[in-house]
Formats: sequence, structure tokens, C-alpha cells
Amino acid sequence: MTNVLLIHGGVGIDDNLVDAANIKLNYFASSVKLNGNPLDSAIEAVRMMEDDPEFNAGTGSVMRIDGSIQMDASVAIPGKFGSVLAIESVRNPVMVARDVMEMTPHTMLAGDGAVKFARLLGYEEYDPSTDRARNRLKVALENLKTPGSDSYAKYSKLMEKTDFNDFMKDSCDTVGAVARIDGKFAAAVSTGGASPMLRGRIGDSPVFGSGIYVGDKGAVVATGIGEEISKRLLCFRIHEKIGTKPLHDVMKEEISFFKNVIAGVIAVSADEYGYFANKGMGTGLKLE
Ligand code: GLY
Repeated sequence: MTNVLLIHGGVGIDDNLVDAANIKLNYFASSVKLNGNPLDSAIEAVRMMEDDPEFNAGTGSVMRIDGSIQMDASVAIPGKFGSVLAIESVRNPVMVARDVMEMTPHTMLAGDGAVKFARLLGYEEYDPSTDRARNRLKVALENLKTPGSDSYAKYSKLMEKTDFNDFMKDSCDTVGAVARIDGKFAAAVSTGGASPMLRGRIGDSPVFGSGIYVGDKGAVVATGIGEEISKRLLCFRIHEKIGTKPLHDVMKEEISFFKNVIAGVIAVSADEYGYFANKGMGTGLKLE
């Protein structure tokens, strides 16, 4: 059976940037070994994207409205899950998520508890901020403070509204990976979140069943507006439908429920793999 690593760099990019994103992501995917544990491969791909400042994960993560950076990440294999929520000042949240899964009796660690856990294991203090993130925050804040602007109107309703799409469309570039090696599945996800957002906000990426799911039938990860993805338990739903129809049709059907909300998924099953998004999304693939 063919081994598969499929990765994405986030939904919501301009269509004319997808080819360039694909080149980079295919390069990342091609440099990952597929001859061992699928979790190693998925995490290695996500780690590379976290270290690339062009992606909204790890270095290059978007900033919260208060200027801080809090990151979410998760990993999963059948029957096991680990995540960090709103972790700060670490270089690779996805690796801390793996440690939560493998070294604790917990599935989720949040905030300063996650940071303390990381320090205990030797993860050094690290500043993931970039000039690009600072500029993005500046523009976002200017829009929010401009009476009459779309963002101004939408921000005043932020806590009540469910349609955050126009508000966050430029900054929802979560990264993720799914892998199938020797018939075994794994997935990993990492994100700086969806800007602009309040400090403490958690999206879909570290929530099992929402932004990530791995079970006996396959592995699924999502990208897009976390609030909407969580409400639909997107990845769990896709996993449950695996085998009922072609994988592409399953993903297309589930994404069709996202009206005016950007969303994308990648998935691998026992005999298929694929992706589907309702806006531009770069992907990379390695088959072996
Ligand atoms: N999908 C990433 C987020 O909403 O945080």
C-alpha cells in the first residue's frame, strides 16, 4: 500500500498565490521521510511550516488584539490525542502537543500551564513575532478603529456574530498534515489563530473532532474560521462518512455547509487521500 503525506498551508489565500504555495509545500512534503511512524512524518511537516514565517503558525503567527501571540496545536493517532491551547513563547507548539499526548495523562494543556510544561521539558523561551505579523495587526487595528468600516461594525458584534468571514479572511492560514504509513494514520495541526481576535480565544485546531480527527478509518485536519468549524465538528463528521462515498465527495459535501465562511480540509483514508476548500489553499503531497 502506498504511503501518503498530505499537507496544507491554510485556506484563504488569493487564487493567484496557490501555485507558489504548492511549490513550497510540495518541497516541504518531499523532504519528509515516510518510512517510519506516521506521526513523526506529520509533525515534521508541520514543524517546517511553523518555522517558515510565511505561515500563520509558530514563527509568523498572527497577533491578538493586545499584541500578544498565543498559538494552538494538536496531534492525533487512532485512540490518542494531545494539544496545546493559547501557548506562548515557544518555537514549535506542535512538538509540545506531542509531549502532552505522550508524556501526560491529559489530552489538552492551556495557557501558562502549557508554557510551564514546555519549559519543564526544556523548550526554550522563543519570540515567534515577525514584522509581517506586526504590520498585519496594525492594519487590522486601524480597520477596527475606523467608524464606518466593515470591520468596525463587525467588531462591535464580535461576541454575538457567527459569520466572521469578512473579518478574518486574510489571517486564517493554519497549517496541517495527515499521513498514512503502512496503513497507520496520524495528523498534526498548528495555528496562530484567526486575526483579529481576543486574547484567550481558541479556534478549532486544538479541539478533537473540530480541527483534527484520527480514527480507524482515516485522518482529517481542517483550516478556516475556527468558530464555524468547531460548531460543525467538521473533521469528526468527515471521518464518520469515510467509506460511504468517494472521499472527495465527502469533503465537498461537508465544506458546502460553510456558507460565506472560508473552510478547507485534507484527509487520508485506507485507500484514498485528497483535499477540498472553498477558497485558495496550498497543498503539498508525497507518495512513496
Ligand atoms: N483554523 C484556525 C483558527 O480558527 O484558529
